Amino acid sequence: MNHEQIRDVVDRLAEEIRRDYKQKTPVLVGILKGSFVFMADLIRALNMPLEVDFVILSSYGSGTESSGEIKVIHGLESSIEGKDVLIVEDIIDSGLTLSLFLEELRRRKPASLRLCVLVDKVARRKLNVLIDYIGVQVQDEFVVGYGIDYDEQYRYLPDLYVVED
Ligand code: IMP
Ligand code: MG
Repeated sequence: MNHEQIRDVVDRLAEEIRRDYKQKTPVLVGILKGSFVFMADLIRALNMPLEVDFVILSSYGSGTESSGEIKVIHGLESSIEGKDVLIVEDIIDSGLTLSLFLEELRRRKPASLRLCVLVDKVARRKLNVLIDYIGVQVQDEFVVGYGIDYDEQYRYLPDLYVVED
């Protein structure tokens, strides 16, 4: 998917989000590192009052398979109690990372908690996770570029690519 197609997707997501958060100031929580490019484009497309925070979770070692557990390496800087929280994630694959993280955030009593994902690998899902805003859906393919890595490589690519094996 080239950057123009990505921009159309981001604009469409922003429109949906803006419509749902009228009169609100959501806290967008980006999951690093993969979401940072997407987040940067999304908040500018949103162009509305909002706050931004980031967390670093780790579920992947090197390679292309999930390790089966997550670690919070860097948590939220601010309290989210009573706030409208929107999680921003690059890719959902098994759903493990997000379901564990969602559980953790729910315990902190946000007013609302929603999820925005750029790439949904729906065929790979092991745990059911409700996604409120979906950018694109792909099959069982490994994706890189636009902030998304393979072993820390290729994040700089402006477009999204599927890795051939
Ligand atoms: P899950 O816990 O299996 O859903 O994995 C989610 C995380 O794994 C995502 O946030 C990504 O960081 C990483 N990941 C999953 N699929 C891909 C991919 O195709 N390319 C790069 N990273 C991926
Ligand atoms: Mg990620």
